[in-house]
Order: sequence, then structure tokens, then C-alpha cells
Amino acid sequence: MTAPVDLLAPALSDAIARALGPEFAGADPVLRPSQYADVQANAALALAKRVGASPRDVATRIVAELGDLPVSIDVSGPGFLNLTFDDAWIESLLADLAADERLGVPTQEAQVVPIDYSAPNVAKEMHVGHLRTTVVGDALARVLEHLGHRVVRQNHIGDWGTPFGMLIEHLLDVGEGSEQALLLESDPNAFYQAARAQFDGDEDFATRARARVVSLQAGDEDTLRLWSELVELSRRYFNRIYATLGVTLTDGDLAGESTYNDDLAGICDELEAAGLATMSDGALCVFLDGYTGREGKPQPLIIRKSDGGYGYATTDLATIRHRVERLGADRCLYVIGVPQALHLEMVWETARLAGWLPDHVEVVHVRIGNVLGEDRKILRTRSGAPLRLMALLEEAMANARREVDRTRPELPEEVRASIAPQVGIGAVKYADLSVAHDSEYVFDLDRMLAYTGNTGPYLQYATTRIRSIFRSAGVDPRFEAPISLGAPAERALALRLLAFGSVVAEVGDDLAPHRLCTYLFELAQEFSTFYEQCPVLKADTVEQRGSRLSLSAVTLAVLVQGLDLLGIEAPERM
Ligand code: ARG
Repeated sequence: MTAPVDLLAPALSDAIARALGPEFAGADPVLRPSQYADVQANAALALAKRVGASPRDVATRIVAELGDLPVSIDVSGPGFLNLTFDDAWIESLLADLAADERLGVPTQEAQVVPIDYSAPNVAKEMHVGHLRTTVVGDALARVLEHLGHRVVRQNHIGDWGTPFGMLIEHLLDVGEGSEQALLLESDPNAFYQAARAQFDGDEDFATRARARVVSLQAGDEDTLRLWSELVELSRRYFNRIYATLGVTLTDGDLAGESTYNDDLAGICDELEAAGLATMSDGALCVFLDGYTGREGKPQPLIIRKSDGGYGYATTDLATIRHRVERLGADRCLYVIGVPQALHLEMVWETARLAGWLPDHVEVVHVRIGNVLGEDRKILRTRSGAPLRLMALLEEAMANARREVDRTRPELPEEVRASIAPQVGIGAVKYADLSVAHDSEYVFDLDRMLAYTGNTGPYLQYATTRIRSIFRSAGVDPRFEAPISLGAPAERALALRLLAFGSVVAEVGDDLAPHRLCTYLFELAQEFSTFYEQCPVLKADTVEQRGSRLSLSAVTLAVLVQGLDLLGIEAPERM
């Protein structure tokens, strides 16, 4: 199942080769949207010079070779080919789409795609940046899986490093299982801040914390047990957030920094043996051509600090080896903040030089832009208090609940209670997804929750409106009947529906979920126009009613499937 444009392109290419000669085989027909037709082909203008004829002449020669296509064509202006698809053709493509459970989405040749996303830090609050990588990464995982790829989720949590000395000592001081220890499950920053205050204010505590880091690194059994207690409590906190968000991450996807502990010494040895790493001021560093820092000084990638400890760069080198060698990756995605671009580039370059990242493996930084507060600074606090992600999500759900109570008081209490999280969370997730993932945006709950505009609730509402048409009609929304196109709004809707598969494929290629959002938003708007202009339940004939119900059914299926690929639920009513 493909969109008419995708089917037409090869026929046009062939006609170009037949008309202009075999040296033009595979020429791009240069298809563009048009105001005057369904699509415009500008190849004649692009090729005229090479052919040595006027564009209009070239256009006429191409048309003469097009043969029998289900389109009407006219040559306009200097040599544009305006192509209008025959209604019968669109109708038959749409019938195929309606019968296709994949709704036109192709199944691609399977690749192994590890996706690094979410990656919060143990004993710390998840912030809105973590929220965004979680939501975007999860949408990419869903889309790529749906396209047939083997996605391996990699949650690279920050579960190792020097802060664990102070965190463990604080855990011992407050007592395992104490109320303060359990803060790690609900308000991790409170625990972290308390540990930090001890460390900064109490010399004895600081000395114990430093000694604890040494025992942790030495693999002392009791220390490791306390460390895993901290990780376990944090895991419960992460999982509460994940469950609230409805993301697909599970415990099986955890592959935190500590996973790679045993690999780090070997990585340093190999890099040193290969002559790629050298000692500089007591630290083991990789210096790469073209990377300079302040004052033009070479910028090092530090892989072993002067105190012997390993850092973020070394564990990320380990992630590459793991994903390439053990997971068999074809394409690795790192869904991480924009500021980490340089870090990733240097890590990848080092891995390439070391032979750990072969050319056939693609690595992509899916850059996550900052989420800003109303003051246009990175959103960290709300009304003075440090931002708690759970509180933010709860606020979104509470606001959604208020709106449902106001607009649908007649719905039973338990129905309203189940709609509110779907709408509140859908709104927050959609806001993260609907702007390009690498651009900044201002976090504004009121705007996200609006039922109008390019928002989650608008799209969810569009699906419930279609469901209510089916309730009034007394038929199942999986309705199928022959579709015949009459009104322009029906035709526009049909063409949009036929594009779904290629949009999803494009999101898989370009890793840009906002394109799917734009598509769904435009589809919902086109459905609205159709519904205003084309009576469904009061259609003129039984056939017309059937056809319009069928169009509505396909629209509903595409909207629900599209939202599901974004990780957004579609309530039955709202
Ligand atoms: N834990 C890090 C942070 O909170 C993000 C880790 C991203 N993943 C990676 N492989 N470096 O900033």
C-alpha cells in the first residue's frame, strides 16, 4: 500500500528515460505539491538544459511517453506537468487501505537498533530534559518497531561514580528502610540534598564518604549491597514515573553506567596500546585532530582521571562496544541533550579509530532541545520550589480532570477519572513530540491542555467525535463499505489518509516524530472540514452514507494508530 505519488514517481522516471534517452534513466521527476493539481512534476524544467530543448518541449515529450496512467495531465506555464489523480484510482487505493491492517505502513528489512534514552540518575529527581528524551525515545522505539526493526532499549541510568560515597553514608545515617530513605522513591532530591548538606558541612561525614567511594570501587561486599539498595529505591521511583507516562521501558532495559565497570580498564589499555591515548597531567587522554578547546589548546577526551577513576566518556565508549559487538547493532540512536553533541562526537571518533565502530554501523545523536520555563530559562523550578516531575504530571492530570468535570459532568465518575490521566499525560507527551526534538520550547501546561490548536487533547477529541458518529449510527467503528468520492473535502481527506504509511516510514528514516504529529493534526483538521461539508448520518443515499462512514472509520483507525505510535492513548470519550 502506497500513496499515489509514490506509485506515480517510478512511472514518471521511466517515461523520462523513454522520452529523453537511456542516459536519463533514474532521473528525478521532481514532484512538488501544487495549488492547481494533486501534484506537479518539474522534471522538464530541471532537465531542459541538459537535453538542449525548451522545457515545454521536454514536458510534451515526457507526456507522450507516459502511456496509460490513472491521472489527467496538463502542461502549464513554462513546462510544469500538472497531474490530477482519477477519482476511481484514489477510491481503489483507499479500499486497499481500509482492508489493510497496517494502514499502508510498510514493513522494512529488519535492522537491530539500540536506542539509548531516558537515562535518569540514581538518587536524583528526573527533570524535564529526562522527560523529553523519555517521551521522544519511546516514540522512536514504537515507530521503528512497527516498521519491523528489532529495537533494543538501553536505559543508561547514572548509577555509578563518586557521589555514591556520600549517598551510602547518608543512607546508613538515616537508616535503611527509614522514612528518609524511602524519600528516594518519592522525592529523591530531598534525599540527595540532605546527603550533600552533610558532606559540605560535616568534615567527619566527608571523610567517611570518601573512604566509602574507595570501598565501592574495591568491590567491598557490604558497600555493594548498600549501593544496590540505593539503585533499587531509585528504580522504583523511575518505574512510577514510567508507569504514569505509559512508556514501554522495563527493568530489562536497564543498562546503567555500572554495567560497564569491568570493561573500562581494558578500554583504556587497548587505547593506550594502539597509541590513541596518552598521559597528560596524570590523566589518560585521547587527543583527536580538529578538536580544540579554549585558546586553541587541544581538547582531550579524558578516559582515566588522575585519581585513577573512569568517567562518562569511558562508559560511553563501552556502550558502543557493547551495542556493536554484543547486540549486533546496525544503527545506534543516542537520544540525549543538545549540549552533549561534542562529547558524543569525540567518543564516536575515538571508537572509530579504535576499530570498535565499523563504517556500516550508523550512529545518530537524536538531539534533545531544552525545555524552558516562562522566563525562557531552562525549567528547573516552579514558583520557587525545586521542580518535581511527578508533581508536574499530577498537575497536568488534575487540570485535565477539572476540564472533563466541567465539560462532561453527565459522564459517570469512574469514566471521568479514567479520562483525566489519558488527556493530561497525552497533553504533556504531545507537547514534547510536536516540536522538532532539537528545538527549545516553553513548558506551558495551559497551552498543552487546550482542546484547540496542535495539541494532544485536540487529536484525542477528534477521535472521540468520530466514535460518537458511530454510536449515533449504531454501527461498529470498524465499518467498511465501498467508498466513492464526490465533494472536494472527501477527496482531500482520502489523499491525506493514503499518505499515512509514507509519513511513518519517513519518521523512521529521519527520526523526527514531530512530522507524524503535524500529519495527524492536518488529518484531524481535514476530517473536521469533511464533517462540516459532507453530512454523514444525513447523507442523501444509503451508498453515500456508507461511503462517508467508511471514510470516517479509516480516519479513526489512522488517528488511533498514529497516536499509539507516539505513545498517546485515545480515550473512548471525553
Ligand atoms: N545520565 C545522563 C544525564 O542525566 C544521561 C546519559 C545519556 N546516555 C549516554 N549514553 N550518555 O545527563
